[in-house]
Amino acid sequence: MSQEFNITVLPGDGIGPEVIREAVKILKIVESKKNLKLNLTEAPVGGAGYEASGHPLPEDTLKSAKSADAVLLGAVGGPKWETIDFSLRPERALLGLRSNLGLFANLRPAKIFAPLAAASTLKPDVVEGLDIMVVRELTGGIYFGEPRGVETLADGSRKGINTLVYTESEIERIARVAFDVAGKRDKKVCSVDKANVLECTGLWREVVTQVHKDYKDISLSHMYVDNCAMQLVRNPKQFDVIVTTNMFGDILSDQASMLTGSIGMLPSASLGGDKAAMYEPIHGSAPDIAGKDIANPLATILSVGMMFKYSLNLEAINTVLERVVDDVLADGYRTGDILSKGGKEVGCTAMGDRVAEELEKQL
Ligand code: IPM
Ligand code: MG
Repeated sequence: MSQEFNITVLPGDGIGPEVIREAVKILKIVESKKNLKLNLTEAPVGGAGYEASGHPLPEDTLKSAKSADAVLLGAVGGPKWETIDFSLRPERALLGLRSNLGLFANLRPAKIFAPLAAASTLKPDVVEGLDIMVVRELTGGIYFGEPRGVETLADGSRKGINTLVYTESEIERIARVAFDVAGKRDKKVCSVDKANVLECTGLWREVVTQVHKDYKDISLSHMYVDNCAMQLVRNPKQFDVIVTTNMFGDILSDQASMLTGSIGMLPSASLGGDKAAMYEPIHGSAPDIAGKDIANPLATILSVGMMFKYSLNLEAINTVLERVVDDVLADGYRTGDILSKGGKEVGCTAMGDRVAEELEKQL
């Protein structure tokens, strides 16, 4: 009997639909080669959701995501929606999906594909062999803390407020994810905070240290976020797993992505909920290059790989997919963002086709 899975596909805005189209090609190949039944339900989200229904996260979209086995998302946002009320901005859809699905653990692997060592802005010997996992807390911290907003004071001037909040249980559960992930890797966790200034992350450091007592085989270090930003470009290979807050993780994962050549290479998995997990490239909607067929679809394709590994229990497919991407890069195919001397420049569709053809052979 073939295995059957329900996948909600949310292309979103900007380059989202283009990269998702290539990722869906990959899903179809896996479906037919591995005799699976993948029921794909496409729904609008972000700016597209707003246009379709007046809200960035339409009710039916959320319902579909909640009942799926996995959610695949492209990207949200664009200049068209930058002036509408904050509560209706495309980005709210992403935050709404994460919190409604309970996806508190965001895994962002910054792993360099060997053929891309020359594409990084850092020297090849600094990044060769790099393999970092950023574990970002995703449903708490300053992104969700109350009070928040912009208030008008008595003198008519305004005050903007956001609040950094973490409870012990929120810190404990993300720390456990990080230690568990490290257990299957190089057994090293670096917890990143700003404990010298922010009480909330002082508590973070305390709780992580406490939880670590249950993980005797894992080594734990702590680092301030400013130092971590510096160490990531000085000597990134010192890191195995980095665990950090929502906002620090947002920033450090963008930085880590560039070590691998391009933000267009980094997939992510958002886990921790009761049912569906969500998979998305970490890059945004890149409105400046949308519709030009030049976006890099590899981050989204690799997100599909993570979906097979973490949600559908088919880790072997992820292994093959990563190898296929490596092979396509070794053959010299490059989208513009990872182009270096001697590379064969291809667009989004052609890159997807190259991966699809190779996967067809190797699966
Ligand atoms: C990310 C993005 C989002 C975030 C934005 C689009 C809301 O930057 O997934 O990293 O800040 O989490
Ligand atoms: Mg980000």
